[in-house]
Amino acid sequence: MKPTELKNDIYWVGAVDWAVRDFHGYETPRGTSYNNYLILDDEPTLIDTVKYDFADVTIKNIKTLIEPSKIKHVVINHIENDHSTAIGAVMPLMPNATVYMTERARKALERFFDMSGWNVKIVKSGETLTIGKRTLLFLETPMLHWPDSMVTYVKEDKVLISQDAFGQHIASSARFDDEFVTCASLWELDDAVWDYYANILMPFGSLIKAKIAEILKLGLEIEIIAPDHGIIWRKEPGKIVQMYLDMAEGKANLDVTIIYDTMWHSTEAMAQPIAKGINDEGLDCKVIKLRTSAQSFAIKEFWKSRGTLIGSPTLNNLSFPSIGQFMAYLRGLRPKNRIVGAFGSFGWGGGAVKEIYDEVKKLGLEVFEPGLQVPYRPSLEDEARCYEFGKAFAKRVREYHTTI
Ligand code: FEO
Repeated sequence: MKPTELKNDIYWVGAVDWAVRDFHGYETPRGTSYNNYLILDDEPTLIDTVKYDFADVTIKNIKTLIEPSKIKHVVINHIENDHSTAIGAVMPLMPNATVYMTERARKALERFFDMSGWNVKIVKSGETLTIGKRTLLFLETPMLHWPDSMVTYVKEDKVLISQDAFGQHIASSARFDDEFVTCASLWELDDAVWDYYANILMPFGSLIKAKIAEILKLGLEIEIIAPDHGIIWRKEPGKIVQMYLDMAEGKANLDVTIIYDTMWHSTEAMAQPIAKGINDEGLDCKVIKLRTSAQSFAIKEFWKSRGTLIGSPTLNNLSFPSIGQFMAYLRGLRPKNRIVGAFGSFGWGGGAVKEIYDEVKKLGLEVFEPGLQVPYRPSLEDEARCYEFGKAFAKRVREYHTTI
């Protein structure tokens, strides 16, 4: 992809990663992009780099706009490897550049690179840098996504370069929200936002709310939000901010997700009438078999729904390994404002359903009890119990939804 102008000499000079499907263990079926930006002003400024594998791509993009040695400033908004590892290849081309980052970024980045030859300047929230006609304002956003993170606001152009925040894992020839909605769909864009938030930012909801409030209090006008992944928000930057506020509040759809795994299809046979009961109670229900689905997909669907039922057979008195792995992943993401129940088959001794409830209670989520267990294989009577279990869960989800 060639550079794309966002506004008045502010260019996207990043790389589209069409092929990545495993992003540090997180499945990215849509690929992703590593966005970085070049501002051509009296003192040309590069904001962020890209993943090392794409260093040549961003260097080529930069060279189509300017001789890199003329770049005077390099801003590192975030040091995670997907944004900073190309800096080792970039810096030798920009020997006159001063590099701006937070103190935490410096401490972390020097674990990766020999920075002794760099002219590094540490910046704090509220500090500014004049690069000619423009002023850059730095705002630290610790833990969004890493402790080092900050965002850069281009005052005169009202552009917020937001690193991971407001990003999505999308590889596309479209750079902007309006373009993407035309060539794909609004649903797909929204789904990618949910996916990114659920798998990466879910634990930081209260920080996100506080940071957005802080930015709004500053009265910054924002016409474009340019994240370090995916689509740039120029048509409706307010929409993504509102989506983040809603997700940070724990907003969810009034529907249900069933996430299950199965050994000999008995737990699977329970899931079907349960889903029917949920549907007949008027709620939509997605059914996800965990062993054939990505954990990140299941987490996204969990997060989108107000209610989730987790189904697992018992194996060695515990839940099935894929379910155990899912629960461990969920624990780290610290979800809230969700209601969860459990079901499953067992042979001579149960354990899976109890283990799931123990985990859900540790998370402090609303619990729908008792769970439903069936020995060996569901009979017709058991299938009827499953159906009623689904109906009862849907009713409870609807009630709970009104309290949030
Ligand atoms: Fe896209 Fe936290 O890195």
